[in-house]
Amino acid sequence: MKLERLELEAEDGVARVWLNRPETRNAFDGLMVTELRKVVGDLGADTSVRVVVVGGRGKVFCAGADLEWMKAMATFGREDNLREAGEMAELFSAISASPKPVVARVHGAALGGGAGLVAACDIAVAALGTRFGFTEVRLGLIPAVISPYVVGRIGESAARELILTGERFDATRAHEIGLVRAAVPVEDLDAAVDDRVQALLQAGPRALAEAKALLRLVAGRPAEDVRADTIERIASVRASAEGQEGLRAFLEKRKPDWVG
Ligand code: COA
Repeated sequence: MKLERLELEAEDGVARVWLNRPETRNAFDGLMVTELRKVVGDLGADTSVRVVVVGGRGKVFCAGADLEWMKAMATFGREDNLREAGEMAELFSAISASPKPVVARVHGAALGGGAGLVAACDIAVAALGTRFGFTEVRLGLIPAVISPYVVGRIGESAARELILTGERFDATRAHEIGLVRAAVPVEDLDAAVDDRVQALLQAGPRALAEAKALLRLVAGRPAEDVRADTIERIASVRASAEGQEGLRAFLEKRKPDWVG
């Protein structure tokens, strides 16, 4: 598939996906949503890829939904309008459910759906100076399809304040509320992202996929409800080829075969 809205680079097990529509500050239109969803799905299935990094070309990470596109929705039929919203929801779900860890490299601004994208990624690292905001209500809209990821990431208290005010906030605040894991000077951003990527590359690829699925299973659920499932999962993973290799490598004081 020829990509018009994205740029894709892959090297040494790391795929870098760049939102590449800088003239509209990487705002999501239908084509970008479709392309990103497809690329995330393809990378999830690609055994040569172990970590995915998402960043933005140009001045900002992502200005959220394309407001011209949103405006045009009023002229669409309800079916088409629903379908487009469904595509957007599927995109965030594809990132969250991807078997590969997804790291967000955030600079400039992450607003509306752009901040939602940050919340849907597994780990986000931001440059100091980045402006964040769930600005939808100030546009007469709501952050609907991103809200589960936002509440899951920053909790209900911060979500109530930031979604209801729609106010912009800085990278330090984004760090304090857990939307991003680090806020660093912009010149250190790539090194900080690489630090997280290198840490992820220490993990067994299958264990990473299982760990992501585990996190989705247990999120917000009482331990008793997931007890049987968690027992089943560890029993199966520790007996797997990768689990056995990891345990042998530790006991034999060598690196496991997935560490280059
Ligand atoms: N949808 C469509 N176009 C957008 C856009 C969006 N979400 N965000 C920016 N653009 C367009 C602008 O209209 C402008 O187009 P023009 O060159 O034809 O005038 C161009 O991108 C550059 O935007 P500008 O505001 O001049 O850039 P900036 O670098 O000064 O500021 C932002 C960048 C992201 C801080 C600012 O554009 C902004 O606040 N955008 C709105 C973000 C938002 O609230 N999104 C929520 C969507 S629900």
